[in-house]
Amino acid sequence: MIHFHRVTLEYPRTRTKALFDLSLEIRKGEFVFLVGQSGAGKSSLLNLILKRLEPTSGAVYFAGENLRALRGDRIAWHRRRIGVVFQDHRLLKEMTVEENLRFVLRVWGVAQGEWEARITRVLRQVGLAHKKRVYPEELSVGEAQRVAIARALVGEPPVLLADEPTGNLDPANALSVLEIFKAAHARGTTVLMATHARDLVEAYPQRVVLLKAGQLVRDEREGRYSLD
Ligand SMILES: Nc1ncnc2c1ncn2[C@@H]1O[C@H](COP(=O)(O)OP(=O)(O)O)[C@@H](O)[C@H]1O
Ligand SMILES: [Mg+2]
Repeated sequence: MIHFHRVTLEYPRTRTKALFDLSLEIRKGEFVFLVGQSGAGKSSLLNLILKRLEPTSGAVYFAGENLRALRGDRIAWHRRRIGVVFQDHRLLKEMTVEENLRFVLRVWGVAQGEWEARITRVLRQVGLAHKKRVYPEELSVGEAQRVAIARALVGEPPVLLADEPTGNLDPANALSVLEIFKAAHARGTTVLMATHARDLVEAYPQRVVLLKAGQLVRDEREGRYSLD
């Protein structure tokens, strides 16, 4: 599904090598935790998948296609195959929960007749069907993050990327976020989650890829978390 072939990424302005000769294959339907200390290259790796960055050398393939070859409209089309969740919820403040979700469905070009059913379904999946008409600032931090996940899921993308999605949450809220990702995984979504949270990895023992200074130094199948 996602394939990194000998990828090196250097940020041109600072000449920082964020990733170095990294190869990684993530199969369809896998759940992968991406771990490593701050500055290890996790966000850079996710941004390459989104084609927000281009590798300096090597190639990133998505569903068998070299992302380097995508141009123009195909880049927006590519990004619609991926749901993204960040550490902060990034909801639009002036819109209610359902308006935030409708906004995405409009941008993604989903037929309007499907909107309400989709919105109801994803809000149920994150346990917030009763918060449809509420504004983001009327939600708790944990609820706002669950809406952000609903927004990532509402387009029904085959791949879900998350960049430290529980970084602002207490342990109980972090676990409820993990439950939502687990359910998406169980429905067949490929999930790649960058995280520092050892307890999440232990709560859902899946593949763990460890980056250290831009290199892939461990790839564990059994969900063992270690930064060495
Ligand atoms: N926009 C940027 N310009 C220059 N260097 C960057 C930029 N973003 C990240 N870096 C550098 O790339 C390396 C990897 O960063 P990042 O991918 O953000 O790591 P992580 O997400 O694991 O904390 C770090 O050395 C960081 O300072
Ligand atoms: Mg990061």
